[in-house]
Amino acid sequence: MPTQENKQDTKPAFFITTPIYYVNARPHLGHTYTTVAADTLARWKRMRGYDVRFLTGTDEHGQKIERSAAKTGKTPQEFAAGVSSEFRGLWDRMGLTYDDYIRTTEDRHKRGVRHLFTVLLESGFIYKGTYSGQYCVSDELYVDGPPGTICPDCGRVTETVSEENYFFKLSAFERKLLEYYEEHPDFIRPETRRNEVMAFVRGGLRDLSISRTSFNWGIPVPGDEKHVIYVWMDALANYITALGYGSGDPSLLEKYWPADVQLIGKEISRFHCVYWPAFLMAAGLPLPKSIVAHGWLLFEQSKMSKSRGNIVRAETVLDVLGADALRYFLLREIVFGQDGSFSFDALVQRYNSDLANGYGNLVSRTLTMIEKYFDGIVSFPGRSIHVSPVSGIENAASDCIGSFNKHFEDFQFSAALEAVWAFMKTIDAYLTAEAPWKLLAQSNDLPMQNRVKQILDSAVESIRIITALVYPVIPEAAAKVWKQLGLGDITKADLKDLQWGGLKPGTKLGELGPVFPRAEKEAIERMQDMEEKNQTPIEAESRRGDQVPAATVTEVEAPKPAAKERFPAHAQPAHPAAASVAPPAPEAPTRAATPVAGATPAPAATENAKIGIEDFAKVELRVAIIRVAERVPKADRLLRLEVDLGYEQRQIVAGIAEAYTPESLIGRKVVIVANLAPRKLRGLESNGMIVAASIGEKGTPVLAGFLEDVEIGARLK
Ligand code: MSP
Repeated sequence: MPTQENKQDTKPAFFITTPIYYVNARPHLGHTYTTVAADTLARWKRMRGYDVRFLTGTDEHGQKIERSAAKTGKTPQEFAAGVSSEFRGLWDRMGLTYDDYIRTTEDRHKRGVRHLFTVLLESGFIYKGTYSGQYCVSDELYVDGPPGTICPDCGRVTETVSEENYFFKLSAFERKLLEYYEEHPDFIRPETRRNEVMAFVRGGLRDLSISRTSFNWGIPVPGDEKHVIYVWMDALANYITALGYGSGDPSLLEKYWPADVQLIGKEISRFHCVYWPAFLMAAGLPLPKSIVAHGWLLFEQSKMSKSRGNIVRAETVLDVLGADALRYFLLREIVFGQDGSFSFDALVQRYNSDLANGYGNLVSRTLTMIEKYFDGIVSFPGRSIHVSPVSGIENAASDCIGSFNKHFEDFQFSAALEAVWAFMKTIDAYLTAEAPWKLLAQSNDLPMQNRVKQILDSAVESIRIITALVYPVIPEAAAKVWKQLGLGDITKADLKDLQWGGLKPGTKLGELGPVFPRAEKEAIERMQDMEEKNQTPIEAESRRGDQVPAATVTEVEAPKPAAKERFPAHAQPAHPAAASVAPPAPEAPTRAATPVAGATPAPAATENAKIGIEDFAKVELRVAIIRVAERVPKADRLLRLEVDLGYEQRQIVAGIAEAYTPESLIGRKVVIVANLAPRKLRGLESNGMIVAASIGEKGTPVLAGFLEDVEIGARLK
């Protein structure tokens, strides 16, 4: 007889990981998305009898974190500890079932990384050389190209670094990696990411610089402490250091490595699908079975991220609708692998239609009838007397189980949930057609009672199956319903072989209660308000989205004096378009040309608003060169520009797309207002303003420029 423990050991292992999150930003819905997906898969596997290990954590080293900490006046260690505990606190509040939480500042991790470095050095895969080139601090990425090269991942201008470095012989793995991808078609998922990665590797791999000497916040190279190990090598190693790599105790590694699923966002595919497997090959370790990249969660058309300033915090949704609502939305609304948008409207709509009116309502109407007509006892007559349409429901249930599991295997959560909700509709329609509440009113004799029992028992058995299926996605609600079904603790249920007929005759329902109360319309506003209160003023402005007339004006905006000063009662506004309207609200951008660049100033206005030289001196006008220019999706007039001031690079969103094509602007020198407070346009932070004249009826912008060559960064005064 196997003991309980032995029995446990025979369970197949399943190791699932999320990326470890940078601690330079507080957790937002983007991070929540990946972690929720991992938690859902972990729960699904656990309920199917796997010995699951679910790992998440935080990535705490590197120049980016060092700089963020410096801005707050904290040591990197203090700063990292604070944000890391925010991540962990959020996951705990959401009830996520991670088994291990690794921080790269922990000793167990540092020891493992040093061990990995030593193994690769001793096996000849690491050597010392000189790196001179471009580096993107934001992405911690080396980029090929001359000084001024733009980072292909984030669009920021790279920094030039020249250092004596350790190199990893990545070039030695080009062929091996390609062979591996060919032989393991499921190693990188989905297919699009696989193709991208293969194309990248086919383009040739160069050795990778894996140490830095220009900052200290990292793990020192063993025996050469002035170098710190490249943050991506440090970070990727977490997946094995968390299992005790380098600790001398191989038990967890033996049990759980290679990982079954490593979930990532698509932007970090190269690190996970090229560097990571190459490091593992070099260290003689097996590769993960599959790296699964999902798409981006967008908010107001662009990727939700701290640098774009368009984040939404999970806490807001948790406070108003609860964790299940958020989990359901993320997994149902977004096709895993593709980008998808988040909005409070869509969230509340999904919540009401699918959870409150859908699942919640089906549960409550069915269980209330069983309570009312049969004292809460489920009789479940069993298969033998099933007649159509009950047998039809039984078939639909087993099709639903099959389809749900198949979609889950393929990480197609949305399709899996669609299948369940389609089954729910069938049950709803069945109840409506049979109308058991009417039948008992017609007659209360035994045959009629049996008929009603059969209808309700089929519905309640369907609810049992639905609840077991949706448990990984909406665990709190499913656990509640499970109790209401009289089945106890869902986490203890054996749901490995879920099939029709599991509900035992004589089961007594538990205490009934609402599962998903309907959300009122105010919920949307409440969440929006909560987000605004939690943001910096700039972030809050972007969240008000539609109230910011971003694309309706040339965003070559004027600074914002009080409206009254700008348009005194007797003055003519500078633009015909504004002539018939009341003075704009103080916070609304105007389409007027700037005081310094306006080609058609309104005489009356200028007379009444003369400024002294000290006021003019407050405006910092500088020469900048445009390095990147691209259209802003769904905003006909806006261009996103990256401008270089020599001493810094920044992003400006300008309303000049109707007058200039992006290509015509690259390399062009312009004048910018460099000390304008940043603001948000279409979710993009605009740091400064390009100076332009505003010409003709339509106020067409014409960029200010110079006849002589002027060096970038020069101030106009
Ligand atoms: N620290 C690295 C990862 C190292 S893993 C060895 C990193 N950290 S991060 O904080 O930037 O987190 C990136 C991950 O967070 C993405 O890969 C994705 O899993 C998740 N997301 C962050 N923002 C996201 C969206 N807007 N949309 C979807 N996922 C997002 O990169």
